[in-house]
Amino acid sequence: MLFDLQPKTRRKDLYDRERELKEFNNALKLNEKLILLLGIRRLGKSSLLNVVLSDSGLPYAKIDVRSLYFTHGSIPQELLAKKILSSLLQSLPPSGKLRLGLANVLTSIRGIHLSGVQVEFEKRPDLAEILEKINSWADKEESRVLLAFDEAQYFRLSGIQYDGLIAYAVDNLPHLTFVLTGSEVGMLHDFLGFDNPKKPLFGRYAREITLERFSREQSLDFLERGFRELGVDIALPELERAVDRLDGIVGWLSMYGYLRGIRKLPEKDALNELFHRAQALVLDELSSLLSHSRRYGLILKAVAMGNTRWGNIKEYLEFKAGRINDAKFSILLKNLVKYGYLDKSADGYFIPDPVVAEVIKKSQLTPG
Ligand SMILES: Nc1ncnc2c1ncn2[C@@H]1O[C@H](COP(=O)(O)OP(=O)(O)OP(=O)(O)O)[C@@H](O)[C@H]1O
Ligand SMILES: [Mg+2]
Repeated sequence: MLFDLQPKTRRKDLYDRERELKEFNNALKLNEKLILLLGIRRLGKSSLLNVVLSDSGLPYAKIDVRSLYFTHGSIPQELLAKKILSSLLQSLPPSGKLRLGLANVLTSIRGIHLSGVQVEFEKRPDLAEILEKINSWADKEESRVLLAFDEAQYFRLSGIQYDGLIAYAVDNLPHLTFVLTGSEVGMLHDFLGFDNPKKPLFGRYAREITLERFSREQSLDFLERGFRELGVDIALPELERAVDRLDGIVGWLSMYGYLRGIRKLPEKDALNELFHRAQALVLDELSSLLSHSRRYGLILKAVAMGNTRWGNIKEYLEFKAGRINDAKFSILLKNLVKYGYLDKSADGYFIPDPVVAEVIKKSQLTPG
């Protein structure tokens, strides 16, 4: 169903994304080691990831790095190792030859205990060794293993050099492909550091697949198909009004479809409810950023209110929160671009998601 609020898992529930699927498969055909799925929030990265993993027919592990980080406040190696292995085991048919073969290879790791897809360690595991075992199993099976990390930029907050581990695998373990998604695109690039000579992945190549918002035509078609699937008849002018407010951001479009077509709210109520939910979501997402500096909120507010130029944004910020020096202000602005909250065009800075912009415009974001 197109209007399901959960990330999609099946190809038939995924609208379009043909180009992205093709590019992903091309990268796999070429045995590429590092594939990035990038795009601002709610464009369908997790959905695309789910579909490419299951359509690949390959063994895979999928880890939600963002939720791991927020649940534990860090990303401990032991937990990561457990998650990788149990997810990988789970991707293989139960009691099939592949699962048994992998379990066999893994039992040679000292201190590991396997029970079904549950994995325990007596002592802190060596992740490099685990990846080596997976690689040699894949070699034996003449297969490739996909290791997918959703919202991988959170690795940079872990205090552990996971970039070094990925670099080691990319250079030495030819049967592994890493698939990383990121909504904070600049932060993911910072973490990977392909252009940073001080970082372990310096100079490496990655296939970058960037998800874009749907065009107006696609957005209308998406809504129309979704409503048709539910047997609900919505006239074109209403669909157009929804796309005017929500743009081609599939997460909002499917939420509208859900509220209007499944919850059966009238048009106005559906939009109100959507913005109500969006407000809670966006403020929650912003909260960790604001805990670093309240100024982030004021900068976003300045842009949401129509200031696009460096100087005007700074002026607004200083009016609200007092003086700030140019260098410090530039860093805050740059970070907001790296987090994906702001984007920059020839016309200056803007908030790429109109729903987020509207929420920020209406919210009380105070200096204190
Ligand atoms: N191609 C698609 N066709 C139909 N629905 C989609 C598609 N892509 C995403 N969705 C829907 O949009 C919503 C957001 O999708 P998803 O969680 O995959 O996006 P995301 O980019 O991973 O978001 P986030 O940045 O919040 O993690 C979900 O309700 C999902 O079902
Ligand atoms: Mg996601």
